[in-house]
Amino acid sequence: MSKLGYTVVGIDSDSAKISALQKGQLPFYEPGLAELLVEQLATGRLTFTTSFETAKDADIHFLCVGTPQKAGSNAADLTYVNGAFDQLLPHLKVGSLVAGKSTVPVGTADLLAAKLDAQAPHSDLAWNPEFLREGFAIEDTLEPNRLVVGVRKPESEKLLAELYAPLIAAGVPWISSDLRTAELVKVAANSFLATKISFINAMAEICEAAGGDVTVLAKAIGYDPRIGSRFLQAGIGFGGGCLPKDIRAFMARAEEIGANQAVEFLREIDAINLRARTRMVDVVSSELSQGLKGARIAILGAAFKPDSDDVRDSPALDIAASLLAKGASVVVHDPKAIENARLRFPNLNFTTDIKSALTDADITLHLTEWKVYRELDPVEIKTWVKSAKIIDGRNALDSDKYLLAGWRFRALGRNL
Ligand code: UDX
Repeated sequence: MSKLGYTVVGIDSDSAKISALQKGQLPFYEPGLAELLVEQLATGRLTFTTSFETAKDADIHFLCVGTPQKAGSNAADLTYVNGAFDQLLPHLKVGSLVAGKSTVPVGTADLLAAKLDAQAPHSDLAWNPEFLREGFAIEDTLEPNRLVVGVRKPESEKLLAELYAPLIAAGVPWISSDLRTAELVKVAANSFLATKISFINAMAEICEAAGGDVTVLAKAIGYDPRIGSRFLQAGIGFGGGCLPKDIRAFMARAEEIGANQAVEFLREIDAINLRARTRMVDVVSSELSQGLKGARIAILGAAFKPDSDDVRDSPALDIAASLLAKGASVVVHDPKAIENARLRFPNLNFTTDIKSALTDADITLHLTEWKVYRELDPVEIKTWVKSAKIIDGRNALDSDKYLLAGWRFRALGRNL
């Protein structure tokens, strides 16, 4: 928003985060964002504070807090949404708009709107879901593939359209709807993406059983424009702070509104996804004649996806932890996510040096497809490991190069 020329104040209750941001330090890794933050701080348009009071001058208030999975339940935890909203309410000026960006169960915006109508009737509420991908956050924000706004009043749509005018002028499609549809668009989109990934991982299971190659299958079906080739990368499945918890929260909400059968298939999508992790552990075990106990396992990748230091529900770390629990000696490498990974799994061994991760390994697992791993030379790294065995959990390495260099190469959904 600051890049688009607006005056922006970022509010958070975490004072450590706010003081870091004021100094131009990001609390997470996102390509290009550190530079953009410094650039925008220098304009004087972008500031950060812990004081809600500062919100009193704003025309539009974006509600961007997280909605994680509730402990012990599939449902979304709305503590942060409700907390931020309640603290904002007393500071809303006449004619201002609260625009929700958080991914919420359908009906949440209605509840917030009722509260707003009672306590700040001079303001309005809209829902403007966020579709950005980690690793592509800047591009997805400044050049989104669509803008969706759920509104109650035409004036609110007009205000948002004015705000996004530069993007609309650049041709970004504009979709306006009621609040509930806007909330649903987000969970429907993430459910569809999760379904696509689990579909191809189900096909990977079939290929393993029947003797086929899921990468060729994906390529072949992807040429059909009705199917499309993206999000058909078979492997250890989806993780992160969005897809897993969003499909679970969708099931939980559907049950509450009496429509559980409609999204019952998401239970299977979740199960296929989690099964990919156990299948990986089984393949590793089957490759080690001496068994997992005491085996030295090198793991390339800790983040839930490349170009991110996010380890929330990371399939790679889940697999690393399972192997450790089964008695293996595991060393995990990641270019950016080690610090976060260590906080979650203090018992695992980590390194930021690829060579020391691979040294003396009985088997190597490729679990997050960072570019640096694709650039490794199979001939060179073969001299580091004890046993030249690699399992590609992301179907992203060049198998021919590894086979030519004399590696035993396996991948989920392929029979090599
Ligand atoms: C997702 C949505 O894509 C985004 O629109 C939404 O705003 C937030 O949730 P993100 O969590 O950043 O974004 O990750 P995404 O790129 O969707 O990947 C999710 C997971 O699926 C990753 O673990 C990734 O490795 C995995 N994945 C993705 C696959 O296993 N195969 C694929 O083909 C694609």
